Amino acid sequence: MAGAGAMGRGIAQIAAQAGSTVRIYDTQPEAVQRAIQELGAQWDRLQEKGRMDAAAVQAAKGRLHAAATLQDLADCDLVVEAIVERLDVKKAFFAELEGIVGPEAVLATNTSSLSVTAIATALKRPQRFAGYHFFNPVALMKVVEVIAGFKTDPAVCEGLTAYAKQMGHTPVQAQDTPGFIVNHAGRGYNTEALRIAGEGVADFATIDRILRDQVGFKLGPFELMDLTGLDVSHPVMESVYRQYYDEPRYRPSVITAQRLAGNVLGRKTGEGFYRYADGKAQVPAEPAAPKVDDIPPVWVSTRAARRAELYQLLKDLGAKVETGQSPSPQALTLVAPLGFDVTTVAVVERLDPARTVGIDMLIEDSATKRRVLATNPATRADMHDAAHALFARDGKPVSVIRDSAGFVTQRVVATIVNIASDMCQQRICTPKDLETAVTLGLGYPLGPLAMGDRWGPTNVLEVLFNMQTVYGDPRYRPSPWLRRRGAIGLSLLQEES
Ligand SMILES: NC(=O)c1ccc[n+]([C@@H]2O[C@H](COP(=O)([O-])OP(=O)(O)OC[C@H]3O[C@@H](n4cnc5c(N)ncnc54)[C@H](O)[C@@H]3O)[C@@H](O)[C@H]2O)c1
Repeated sequence: MAGAGAMGRGIAQIAAQAGSTVRIYDTQPEAVQRAIQELGAQWDRLQEKGRMDAAAVQAAKGRLHAAATLQDLADCDLVVEAIVERLDVKKAFFAELEGIVGPEAVLATNTSSLSVTAIATALKRPQRFAGYHFFNPVALMKVVEVIAGFKTDPAVCEGLTAYAKQMGHTPVQAQDTPGFIVNHAGRGYNTEALRIAGEGVADFATIDRILRDQVGFKLGPFELMDLTGLDVSHPVMESVYRQYYDEPRYRPSVITAQRLAGNVLGRKTGEGFYRYADGKAQVPAEPAAPKVDDIPPVWVSTRAARRAELYQLLKDLGAKVETGQSPSPQALTLVAPLGFDVTTVAVVERLDPARTVGIDMLIEDSATKRRVLATNPATRADMHDAAHALFARDGKPVSVIRDSAGFVTQRVVATIVNIASDMCQQRICTPKDLETAVTLGLGYPLGPLAMGDRWGPTNVLEVLFNMQTVYGDPRYRPSPWLRRRGAIGLSLLQEES
């Protein structure tokens, strides 16, 4: 193991637990001593908790050795490098290492953002070299990306794959492309949420609530960025965007660039998208649902998404539902567009914008813990309040956002599904490995392709087509892979890469 930092320590831990003799090398000998001490303490804790028995702890400790010089790695079969993330330093390291290890030794890098192929140019035998990308904290994040460089021998990847399983990790295969799988697939969530916030559609806390409660993400995008820190997440956004030659789908946001410049990084600086007091986020309270005594009758657009379900929901909430061809002069007019804004729908369907309110029905109501309504600039306050009060009648939380094509959930889900589809199009990995890597590496409630299937590939396509029309932004251009599979399902053809 080369590098005794956060990652090197974690990789050494799982390798020793899997039965391998591990030598740890670092240019700072005290880092090696610290790593060995901390791993010893970690194993003692695991024993106290009953997760490892005394014999296993003794054995693991006995397998861990400090390497005082690089020469001490001479008899290793595998060297995993987790040193500083700099191409020049990594190349110099591997050039020196190759002169020390045996001819059959496998060499691997844990780089998250550099090209495996570029690092391999330092080697006389690049066939023996691959990427082996673990996640932090290594012992808990049970996925590892195995990345073949341009000249990597497939047998090297097979060996690393088998060894990952021996360490109890799930290996996935990735092409040597910017961000590999996890850091590439993860581009949609934060960047689209930042765009929504940047357009003033809703505040950070509201966007977080919507994505947690409607889609089931464990953390909202702003909570997540506060946890990771913008010093880490903004450069990743920039790096993947730039490495893909300014592909609009990955475009970062000035919001995070400015906050990074101002050192407003998140939890680690006590202030990010939220303020922190004693480690706890200060979350602004949600506005309560207004009290409305007399709710007007409700008319639902004939083109509403999930119209039958919306009808039933309104009846369950005790609304008087109009069934005429057009709304009566008193009616609250409900629209449920996919990818269009409420204003556009009101104009196209010749509805009175003052009485028109939108609801996001991409995900069925029974599968969500929150309802999201959008008003348009002309919506009257009494209609806004009536809609809010009506949809909150059964106690389910309601967020009312400003008019935006695609609300919040539609935009974020469609962007995630589209980026994942494009990764399949580019054959960066198999659809199956993509789903595995994202659920284990990012903790999403479903893999992106399963997400698309669950809420309807044609619905996702409709969101993207309409958003592209409204924004005229190539960022929403559907990937050809998604367009082709829109009608037949995204995970149906998982065996095909
Ligand atoms: N931290 C993460 O979340 C994460 C996740 C995945 C991959 N990575 C990658 O793993 C690598 C290490 O990251 P980290 O977070 O453990 O860093 P870290 O700063 O915690 O540790 C790096 C260690 O490498 C040592 N080092 C620097 N140059 C060296 C050299 N030439 N030879 C030997 N040792 C050297 C340093 O003394 C330090 O102890 C980087 O390539 C990083 O991109 C990090």
